[in-house]
This record gives sequence, structure tokens and C-alpha cells, in this order.
Amino acid sequence: MCSRRQRKWRWVAAVCAVIILTLTALRTSTSTRTGRPICSFDIIREHCVKHNYFPTGGQWVNDKHGDEVFVPDICRFTESAIKVDKVQNCLKRREVKRMLFLGDSNGIRYFEAMVHLLNKTFLCKLEKTHRSPDFLPDAMYFTNGTRLNASDIVVHYRDCRQCYETLVACTAPQNQGVSFTIKLEFLAMEYFLDTEVTTVRTKKQNNIGRAGWHHSTSTQEFIFSEYLKKQPYPDVILLFSSNHDKARNTLEKMRADMEYLKSLINVYVPSTTEVFWFSTLSEYNNKKPKAYRNRKYERKYAANEYIQLENRHLFEVLLPELSKRDSVIKPFFDIYSMSYGVLHWSTDGIHREKRWYRAIMSRWLQTFCV
Ligand SMILES: *[C@@H]1O[C@H](CO)[C@@H](O)[C@H](O)[C@H]1NC(C)=O
Ligand SMILES: *[C@@H]1O[C@H](CO)[C@@H](O)[C@H](O)[C@H]1NC(C)=O
Ligand SMILES: *[C@@H]1O[C@H](CO)[C@@H](O)[C@H](O)[C@H]1NC(C)=O
Repeated sequence: MCSRRQRKWRWVAAVCAVIILTLTALRTSTSTRTGRPICSFDIIREHCVKHNYFPTGGQWVNDKHGDEVFVPDICRFTESAIKVDKVQNCLKRREVKRMLFLGDSNGIRYFEAMVHLLNKTFLCKLEKTHRSPDFLPDAMYFTNGTRLNASDIVVHYRDCRQCYETLVACTAPQNQGVSFTIKLEFLAMEYFLDTEVTTVRTKKQNNIGRAGWHHSTSTQEFIFSEYLKKQPYPDVILLFSSNHDKARNTLEKMRADMEYLKSLINVYVPSTTEVFWFSTLSEYNNKKPKAYRNRKYERKYAANEYIQLENRHLFEVLLPELSKRDSVIKPFFDIYSMSYGVLHWSTDGIHREKRWYRAIMSRWLQTFCV
């Protein structure tokens, strides 16, 4: 038994301990809130390596114009959206002359959002587009302006109705006699591996590949090893993981296809190019047509369950790249959790209102322009 005096001192010590702990907790929470670093791709990459996933934490809050903007937990942005006049200087400073977007019907909407952002200060004009009404890619798109030979290109039907290829050139008004043009291109990439556009050569050609017999056995190989090689390689590639794979592939096959695409990038993309590989966004069953609403994938997973597993596989496939500071492959915030926060922007269960794509491209540009 302790004396009354000892008990009193214990009580005082306990109270002091609680006060000290509370003060320390308060101090750390304020300092992490105000002292968060400015968002950059290095911060995102470091988070990925340290926490074993793309950054998921954050909130959508109203900015002073009443627009909902994403505020991440791990870092901060100095503005609620990219300032229109900053875009031009940033792209000029970073010497971005070509940007390529790869993806499905969501991917093309990010492309359109970026063109919309640039078209506020640049003069953006369509350079080429070939839209076939019947799901068949048009080989002429890829030969137009590239000296590829259409008779080598084999096309197959795609599943994506809204996918097509398009190239836009945005020119900045002359500044002290110097004009500046940036080309933005969208190429459909419906899966991590597919055969919608391939090449088969029956004659030796000396202008392609080391052996002169180069065949591309997938759309992905065709894009990275042939089409892009026929012109200045893009400085920036934004690769949007599609929502199509789950309808066709098991998770295991999909992961193998992700590995395949990653190795193509490592083989063919020059070290001067940066490839930003985005995870897949969430879907919203309530807005889907009835026939798709409760569809199960691999006979057991609901759409969003499957997408989360898919993104987990993507993370694991990309992790060895993210661990290297000099890899061409760069991560972004987790698109699934960002998109889950604004499910009410879903238009048909798969796609979102324009403000979603614009918000994401604005945050990407802000991160790119630090
Ligand atoms: C850019 O904006 C102009 C003026 O609003 C419009 O006519 C043009 O079609 C836009 N360019 C693109 C490629 O969307
Ligand atoms: C290339 O594309 C442009 C724009 O879409 C078009 O006007 C032109 O006819 C095309 N050229 C060929 C050879 O297909
Ligand atoms: C394209 O390929 C075909 C068949 O191999 C050949 O006859 C034709 O000369 C080629 N065209 C060009 C422009 O190289």
C-alpha cells in the first residue's frame, strides 16, 4: 500500500503527462497541416515507396469561386486551380513540345480537358483526326504525316465506341518574335495489351527496326516502337489505365499485361520523356444502365472491388520503377480515391462531368509546374 502522499504525487504526475501529450499532439497536427510541402511528383513518388501505395488521402472542398477542388493530405497546392497564364510559361520553361494521351473513352476526356485549358491562352487547331463510325481504327491516321506505309498496318475492331485518334496543335501568340507550338495527341489504348493496330511486313524494310523485319504484335508495341519513333518522341505521356480490361481479362492476365506494357515503355521510351501512369477511376452503379449495374467480374467481384484490386496490381507492377528516382515512369495521386470523393459527378456510371477531367488536369499541371 502506498501512502496518501505518494498517491497524490502519482496523480499530479499523471495529469502532467496527459497535458504534455496533448500539447505535443496539438503541435504536431498543426505543424503537419501548415508545414506540408508543395505538391511535386517527387513527394508523390516518395509517398508511394514509403507507404506502399499511391497517395489516397484528401478531400474535395469548395474554393472561393464555389468550385470543388481536391485537397490532398500529403502536400499542398498554392492555388485552388492552375492559373491560366501560368500554363504557357510552364510548358515553355519545361520545353514541352509534344504531349501524348493514351487511354479509353475516359482518357480522351482528359485530353479534351487539357486542350480546353490550353485553348484559353494558346490558339488550338485540329491537325488530324480519322474517326471511323464502325469501331475500326483507321490506318490512314497513323500514316498521315509519318511515312509509315498503310499496307503494313493491320487493324482490328475495338470495343470502345468513343475511342479515336486525334492530334491538336496549340500555338502561343508571338512573344518578342518567338512563337511556341505544342502538339497534343490522343491515341486510343483500350487495354494494357491488345491487337487493334499492329504491323505485318512481308518484305524486308530497311527504314524500320534494326533487322528491317520489325513487326509490332500489339497496339502498344506499334505505338511505342513505330508510330512515336516516326516523329519527335513526346516529352510527356499521360497514360490512363482503362475501364475496359476488367470485362475481358482476369486479374492475373491483366497483371501480366501491365508488366508487358511497362517493359515496352522501358525498352522504347527515351530517358528524356516522362510517362505519368494513372490508376483507374471508380464507377458508380446507380448511374449505369440496368444491364451493367450489378455485373460481377471473375464471377465474384463488383466493379469497384475489381478496380481496387486492379489498381493494387498496378501499384505492385510499378513499384520497382517508383523506387528509382530516374525512371521515366511517374505516379500521381490515386485516381480511384479522388474519383470516389465526387461520385455525384458521374454521368453514366463510367464517365464523369467535364469538371472532373478539368480538375484532374489542373492538379496534374500544378504538380508538373512546380
Ligand atoms: C479553341 O477555341 C476556339 C474558340 O473558342 C474554337 O473555335 C476552337 O475550336 C478551339 N480549338 C479546339 C482544338 O478545340
Ligand atoms: C491528313 O489529315 C488531314 C486532317 O485530318 C486531312 O485533311 C488530310 O487529307 C490527311 N491526309 C491524308 C493523306 O490522309
Ligand atoms: C508500301 O508497301 C507496298 C507493299 O509492300 C509497296 O508496294 C509500296 O511501294 C510501299 N509504299 C511506300 C510509299 O513505301
